[in-house]
Amino acid sequence: MTNKKITIAIDGYSSTGKSTVAKQLAKHLSYTYVDSGAMYRAITLYAMQQGFISDSFLDKDGLVSKLNDVSISFIYNEGLGFSEVYLNGINVEKEIRTLKVSQLVSKIAAIPEVRMKLVEQQHAMGINKGVVMDGRDIGTVVFPDAELKIFMVASAETRAQRRFKELIEKGEVVSFDDVLKNVQERDYLDTTRKDSPLVKAEDAIEIDNSELSLEEQFHKIVKLAEKIISKA
Ligand code: DC
Repeated sequence: MTNKKITIAIDGYSSTGKSTVAKQLAKHLSYTYVDSGAMYRAITLYAMQQGFISDSFLDKDGLVSKLNDVSISFIYNEGLGFSEVYLNGINVEKEIRTLKVSQLVSKIAAIPEVRMKLVEQQHAMGINKGVVMDGRDIGTVVFPDAELKIFMVASAETRAQRRFKELIEKGEVVSFDDVLKNVQERDYLDTTRKDSPLVKAEDAIEIDNSELSLEEQFHKIVKLAEKIISKA
């Protein structure tokens, strides 16, 4: 048994619990966890702050012309046990999780220049393996050679319930209907965009967690990972 480090790609629809299981897995394996969605969210926040995007407006060229000024980094927070995202040196971990950012992020994530910048950075983060990255195109575009690819699905209602609960617990004033609408809209935009749409990689293992507890889901995925690692 050589136990070489592998690359684990976890893709799927929004609010399927990708980041929860990816964090658990990274901790269990002592791997690095990278939340690629947080990077798209951070660029969306930048675009909002600079007035490049609002509900009814998108200045794509303006944003693209400023992309070189945008620096996104992750800094490990020992207390939390995971890395937080920084936009130009400022911790934006909380700000990027609001419903407003969720409502605009798919438009930003559809811009090819944005994807090119972030995919390059994501690729560099996983160059030494030992990484668990979650997102939409990790198994198809960022790490097509990942040894383990998981594709997570769950019904839109189940996902909206989970996201609604999270937002309410954080103190956001939102309605369930708006959250469900956002989940459905993002599914549509993420799967129909021209550049790197959300699709299941041919060699990905699909996991429907609508009826799985967090523990059951974690054990299922850990078993898959350990089997591959033991043969690596
Ligand atoms: O995983 P998340 O919900 O935080 O991701 C936010 C958005 O970013 C999602 O709606 C689509 C986009 N995204 C993407 O296009 N590619 C990725 N690898 C990760 C996220």
